[in-house]
Parts: sequence; structure tokens; C-alpha cells
Amino acid sequence: MTTQAVKIEWMKAPVRPGSGPGQPARPRSAAAQEMAERLAGGILDRATLHRILATTDADELEVIRHAAEQTLLQHCGDTVRLRGLIEFSNRCVLDCHYCGIRRSNKAVDRYALELDEIVETAQWCAQKGYGSIVLQSGERRDAKFVQLVTDAIQAIKAGTRTPELPDGVGITLCVGEQSPETYARWYEAGAHRYLLRMESSLPSLFAALHPPEQSYASRVACLRSLKDIGYQVGTGVMIGLPGQSLDDLVDDVLFFQELGVDMIGMGPYIPHEQAVLPGNPAILDVDTRLQLSLKMIAATRLLLRDVNIAATTALQALSETGREQGLRYGANVIMPQVTPPRVRRMYTLYDGKPCLDDNAEQCATCLEGRIHSVGRRVLRNGWGDSAHYLKRNAV
Ligand code: 5AD
Repeated sequence: MTTQAVKIEWMKAPVRPGSGPGQPARPRSAAAQEMAERLAGGILDRATLHRILATTDADELEVIRHAAEQTLLQHCGDTVRLRGLIEFSNRCVLDCHYCGIRRSNKAVDRYALELDEIVETAQWCAQKGYGSIVLQSGERRDAKFVQLVTDAIQAIKAGTRTPELPDGVGITLCVGEQSPETYARWYEAGAHRYLLRMESSLPSLFAALHPPEQSYASRVACLRSLKDIGYQVGTGVMIGLPGQSLDDLVDDVLFFQELGVDMIGMGPYIPHEQAVLPGNPAILDVDTRLQLSLKMIAATRLLLRDVNIAATTALQALSETGREQGLRYGANVIMPQVTPPRVRRMYTLYDGKPCLDDNAEQCATCLEGRIHSVGRRVLRNGWGDSAHYLKRNAV
């Protein structure tokens, strides 16, 4: 896999030189002033979104970041919501070209956690005050799998009630495309959020990333079905994909708006050694993908305002402080890793997955420090539902 920079339409954003004590305040660049005026005037048209994603001007970037952070604080408050991430199985029937656990990757040892261990892990999260968990796995649709997830949801709901959390932890599912009946069954069992990423809202890019057995239309239909059933629905895309333009990313943000989703989980594309994209295309350099991901978070926050946005683990795979930066650019959800360490390495979607060797306790302490370092606080013992969802369901 080549990693040299390709025709960089997006250049590295230079680090903004701080104006230290005694130094005169730096005048804002003309670009920054113009952006500040647009944002103050609520102008978030295509051209502005494109400009947000394209800028490499440090002053303008700070105007964007600050506006996104203010929008977050105004519409969602200053709490960071935690979802303990339980990667309960890497068995997968799909063969997505980019994904390390694709079915054709024979180098991966496959695992599935037992029900008891899934429930115990969720209980640990409840005791830690996490409030919510995510059940994530490779995609399967067989009856045994559907039953395991149903049983897990029911057992977790019953087994995580505490005085502070009388209805148990909130459960987000991230287990792919299923039939409407299955979605409904899991909703009745007690799951109330579902994350299903589009990966790209551009049909041709979706087709380039997946084998023909997967269809764009089917994914959109699943998202609509999830919404109809009553789930809080999340989607997202990979950022910095080969062949993806800034216009495509603007379309992604507009797609989120059109679909009216409640949650966004998106992050940089990161190659995996055993999941090389067709044609072995060149990949944008790390800093460019990181900056672009942060700008996508800001653009989404500015346009959608009251949705939950995750500072995903993939951000931290590109930079030690990636998730904190995500929070600073408008994200308000973090998914602490709670998958039992002995299987964590087997759930490698992309190379360089962080936190492989820390146990859940270490992850909890580390994350709390990271959240405080950017002036935010952790929501304890709450589900941390999306404000957008609560509003659209208010009677
Ligand atoms: N790079 C970045 N994200 C990836 N995912 C899977 N493979 C990769 C990769 N190589 C993301 C997809 C998927 C989520 C669970 O993980 O967006 O929806």
C-alpha cells in the first residue's frame, strides 16, 4: 500500500502560532474574518461547507473550530457521553474491501464472546457509571446470531439496573444490515439506538468500496426502517478515501441532514494490511486525513447542531490526541474500549488500532483525563440521548 500524498487538494493546516503574554494580539486573516461573518449570519450553504473542508488557513480553522464548539455547548451542553464499546464477535459474512475482519481475510482468528461475558462487561460499564454501551460485531443474519443479540439485550437490560440507572444501561447496536423484523425484535428487547454507517453517501464510491452483493439502496432502506421502528439512528462515513473529493464530503454532510439522523459516527479511512482497496490506490497522508476528519466534525456540528457526534477511536489511531481534538471540534460522544483484552487484537478493522493492551480500568482512567484536558466533563449514569432525537419525539 502506498502512503505518499496524492494530488493534495487539501494541504496540511499549519499550527496556529499562539500569541503569548506581552505579544500583540494577532490580527485575523481575511479568510478568517469572512468565515466568521458567514457563520455569524448562519450561512451554511454548499459553498460554505466546502470552504470549511478546504481551508488550510490557521486563523480560519480556529474560527470554524470555535464556532462548532460553541454550537455544541449551546445545543447539547458540555457533557461528554460515554458508550462502553463491546466488540463481541469478529465473525462476518461480508467482504467489505477496506475492512480488516472481512470474510476473505483468512489471517484473522475468529471469536465470539459467550452471553455471560457480554453481560458481565456491560455490568462493569454500569458500575463505572458509563450509562450506555455499544454492542458491535461483524455482520451475521442467521437465527443463532439474532437470538444471541436478543438474549444479550434482555440480559443486559435486566442485569444493569442500579439506583442511578433504574432502567439499566442504554444500548446502541452496531451489527449491520438486518431485516425490519429483526430490527423490531431487538428494539422490543430493549435496544434503543442503532448505528449503521453509509461509509459514503455517494453511490459510486459505495460501490467501489463493497462487493456487488452489497447495495447502496439496501443500506438506505435499513436506515429508514430503523427510524420508522423508533430507534435513535446514527450513520457516518469514512473520510479521506481514495477517490473521494471535498464535494463528496459536502454531500455526505447534506445527506446526514436530509436523512434527519440523530447520531454521527465517522472517522478517517485507515488502510489495513490485509484489506487493500482494489487497484491499491495511494492514500492521503496522515495529517491531511486527520485535519479533514476534524473539519468534517465541525461542519456536521455547525449544520446539524443538536445531534450526538462521536470522537471515534480511528482519530486516535492517527494522532495520540485525536479524540480530544475531535471533542474540541464539536464531538460529544466517546466510546471507551471495554472489549476483553484477550480478543481485542482480533477485532482490528484498520492498522494501528490504539488501546490494544490497556484493560478497561486503565481505559476509563485515561479517557477521563483526556476529557478534562479539553475542559469538558463526563456525563455519569445517564443514557446521554441525542438532543435531536428528544426534540423530534417531544409531544
Ligand atoms: N478505516 C477506517 N474505518 C474503518 N471501518 C472499517 N474498516 C475501516 C478502515 N479500514 C469502520 C467502518 C465501519 C466501522 C465499524 O468501522 O466505517 O462501519
